[in-house]
Amino acid sequence: MDQALSFIQPTGHVTLGNYIGALSHWKPTPGSVFGVCDLHAITVERPPEALHAGIMEVLSVLVALDLHTNGSLVFLQSGVPAHAEMAWLLECVAHMGELSRMTQFKAKGRGNDAVSVGFFAYPVLMAADILLYDAATVPVGEDQKQHVELTRDLALRANNRYGDIFTVPDPVIPTVGARIMSLRTPTDKMSKSTDDPDGTVLLLEPADKIRKKFLSAVTDSDNEVVYDPEHKPGISNLLEIAAALSGEDRDAWAQRHRTSGYGAFKRAVAEVVVESTAPVRQRANDLLAHPDALLAVAKSGQESAARRANPKVARLKQAMGFPTA
Ligand code: TYM
Repeated sequence: MDQALSFIQPTGHVTLGNYIGALSHWKPTPGSVFGVCDLHAITVERPPEALHAGIMEVLSVLVALDLHTNGSLVFLQSGVPAHAEMAWLLECVAHMGELSRMTQFKAKGRGNDAVSVGFFAYPVLMAADILLYDAATVPVGEDQKQHVELTRDLALRANNRYGDIFTVPDPVIPTVGARIMSLRTPTDKMSKSTDDPDGTVLLLEPADKIRKKFLSAVTDSDNEVVYDPEHKPGISNLLEIAAALSGEDRDAWAQRHRTSGYGAFKRAVAEVVVESTAPVRQRANDLLAHPDALLAVAKSGQESAARRANPKVARLKQAMGFPTA
């Protein structure tokens, strides 16, 4: 069976975008790897308490989804030093030019002298995460596609130079819900690190708060429920969310609510969101009350992860010419 691998950053609260675009597609199949990429979260200065709280929240969600069961792993990236070591080795394979072309760097880093070196090199750490475990598929939202493509390029380049060391992974992007937008500014991606809290639905916030955010979602003035991302980005985003979580397609939703009025439509979407996420919300919130038990799951995952990752680092180092003791 193909081994899947994916990570999520603990840079804030887990969002509905994270759930729809990525987490809801992660399945605990034997050999699969899921984790909290906490090393990624320090590319921007972050108070230690915020980092710690973010790590625990993300871990609680992964465990609530049972991703540590059935021979699949859940762990913290910072607990497996092979990630940082592999990242260095791959940084010496990656080119400045290709990293400069990454959308995230272009949007937030380029031209800013004070941006951290880690922020620039971040996609290589992500490539290390993936290549350490011979992942075949990487289930991610659309915004991560470019990073998985870079990972493929680095794997091919390293294989060319040093022999057949890495599996070249394929990104798996959902056909519906790959890019969930802010409820308040539906032309911007819904994001953890946002200064627009009403536009971002959090997976673990109370159901009533979620309902309220949907009721105040930005729409338009013509009161017709139609999927048309260009002219009706707010309504189209709501249709996308409803379709992704209900399994019923966008057109069926649009047809049923075409003339029912925006208020009724928003209430229906909010109910699908609240209901379909209730089990994970409840479990994760319960688990957060037992941090030691959560960290024990991560520790056990970390030991298995290191057993898989360390030989991969050793193999690349040997192929590069480092003597083995
Ligand atoms: P991160 O933490 O920003 O997001 C985690 C996952 O959620 C998806 N996502 C979305 N999907 C749909 N709509 C949205 N609005 C939305 N916002 C986020 C992301 O695409 C992602 O799949 N670099 C990665 C983390 C990472 C990683 C890895 C992923 C580190 N190493 C190895 C895969 C494999 C990131 O910042 O994701």
